[in-house]
Amino acid sequence: LNVGILYGGQSTEHEVSMRSAESVLDALDKDKYDVKLVHISKKGEWLLSHQSEEIRSLEAGDGATGLSIIPSKQLSSKKGGEALDVILPILHGTAGEDGSVQGLLEMADIPYVGCNVRSSAVCMDKDMTKKLLKLEGIKVADWVLYRHDEKGGVDYGTVKRELGLPMFVKPVNQGSSVGVSKVTDEESFYEAVALAFEFDTKVMVESAVEGREIEVSVLGNAHPIVSVPGEIIANTDFYSYESKYIDENGAALEIPAKLAEDTKQRIQKTALDAFRILDCEGMARVDVFLTETGEVIVNEINTLPGFTSISMYPKLLEASGIGYSELLDRLIELSLE
Ligand code: DAL
Ligand code: MG
Repeated sequence: LNVGILYGGQSTEHEVSMRSAESVLDALDKDKYDVKLVHISKKGEWLLSHQSEEIRSLEAGDGATGLSIIPSKQLSSKKGGEALDVILPILHGTAGEDGSVQGLLEMADIPYVGCNVRSSAVCMDKDMTKKLLKLEGIKVADWVLYRHDEKGGVDYGTVKRELGLPMFVKPVNQGSSVGVSKVTDEESFYEAVALAFEFDTKVMVESAVEGREIEVSVLGNAHPIVSVPGEIIANTDFYSYESKYIDENGAALEIPAKLAEDTKQRIQKTALDAFRILDCEGMARVDVFLTETGEVIVNEINTLPGFTSISMYPKLLEASGIGYSELLDRLIELSLE
């Protein structure tokens, strides 16, 4: 099977994607798959790496050839066509996780791993995700949305009365906590709003849920399976970009999370419900909070979750009996269903 790994990308999570892709390349069974590396540079060029054994950040001319995507099963290079049977979009964030690449691949009639256009687009937008989940009776934290043209009307006092302290300020369409701040006072609030608007035209302020941070992996199409839950033990004020990728002591993952059996099952059921409500396919990591009173509150759904061999998504499935290489086999099979 000719498998293309699409990685890099123009989002703020370019580097995270490189790490994920490295692990994926490492683990794909080379007897089964002929792997091609397709790098999207930060400038947005699509480059086919001649050395398929190494994930590198490429620039045009740098051991790579420019690609043109054509509407057929061919992903052709200037030097001749190379048919790809399936693509693994190991991209995070905008223009990768948000349905745009998925749409391109649909048009080109190339099967791809993971969520379809619609669910990718909705899950990338934290505001729309919450609206849909709330409508279907899934608990989410209270929030207020501001669009770019409402920036001038953002008022600390009003938001604080509505949401209480502390609160989170987030760009609506971002991943890996980029542009996210936890605020407890007026000055940091306005700074946080300005920062979040640097990353998106929509910004949300959310009430901070007091509780444990639990994540669950879902794998499958119409009849998905759900992993054991895992817990994030953040040693910083919140689970920030730093604590995720830079500070080695920033956070620990507890897998499986220590939970009573009925709580575990409620969390798993919520994750499966959310996956279904949002029309997800293939995979998603559902992130929730568990409050002291036992409420399960969904934080967000990641359709292309971090995918290094030590990332939560594969780790949770490994703890549930599906190793990393087998997980990739299953995802490829699911994409071809
Ligand atoms: N956005 C990062 C990659 C995650 O959700 O794991
Ligand atoms: Mg996310």
